[in-house]
Amino acid sequence: MTKIAIFASGTGSNTQNIIDYFRHHPGIAIGLIVTNKPGAGVLEIAKKENVPTLIIEKEHFFFGDAYTGSLREWQIDFIVLAGFLWKIPPQLIAAYPNKMINIHPALLPKYGGKGMFGNRVHEAVIASGDKESGISIHYVDDHYDHGHIIFQSSCAVDEKETPATLAQKIQSLEHEHYPVVIEKLAQL
Ligand code: GRF
Repeated sequence: MTKIAIFASGTGSNTQNIIDYFRHHPGIAIGLIVTNKPGAGVLEIAKKENVPTLIIEKEHFFFGDAYTGSLREWQIDFIVLAGFLWKIPPQLIAAYPNKMINIHPALLPKYGGKGMFGNRVHEAVIASGDKESGISIHYVDDHYDHGHIIFQSSCAVDEKETPATLAQKIQSLEHEHYPVVIEKLAQL
């Protein structure tokens, strides 16, 4: 079995969707949910789904071993970021070369970087007048939203688009494509 850890700090709709997709998968299992937020919605999902959780602390993440030891103990082979906002320390990147991916709710390299998350992304896209937006799935490196882009899918930004309607379009693209891309890459 290839064991995946999902790093997430938000409501966790992608986490739920990924768990659902791999529920009866013969080769891939969700082995751990990692969060830095003790109150994150994703913890409720983990509890309901019986997936173990790891709540991480700044000091240990950035100035300790970046939890590489714990991830090894949990026998994690592949890391999926889904709404995780901390920068990934070099030590963790080095421990999972080409084995850690992120999803971003825009067409990178546009609208990425520190502070570009959630509605801020959609507001910026609409304000710029772009006629399309989309999702990007990329390998994680030591810059925010910067690693090699693996997959993109786009949607139209209509005249009357609001951040909320765009967020919905983006979320359905994420749910449609993220598990499929994970499935392709996790067992390489
Ligand atoms: C997604 O939009 C993803 O692109 C971004 O964070 C969001 C997570 O949403 N990186 P959810 O918590 O999975 O609903």
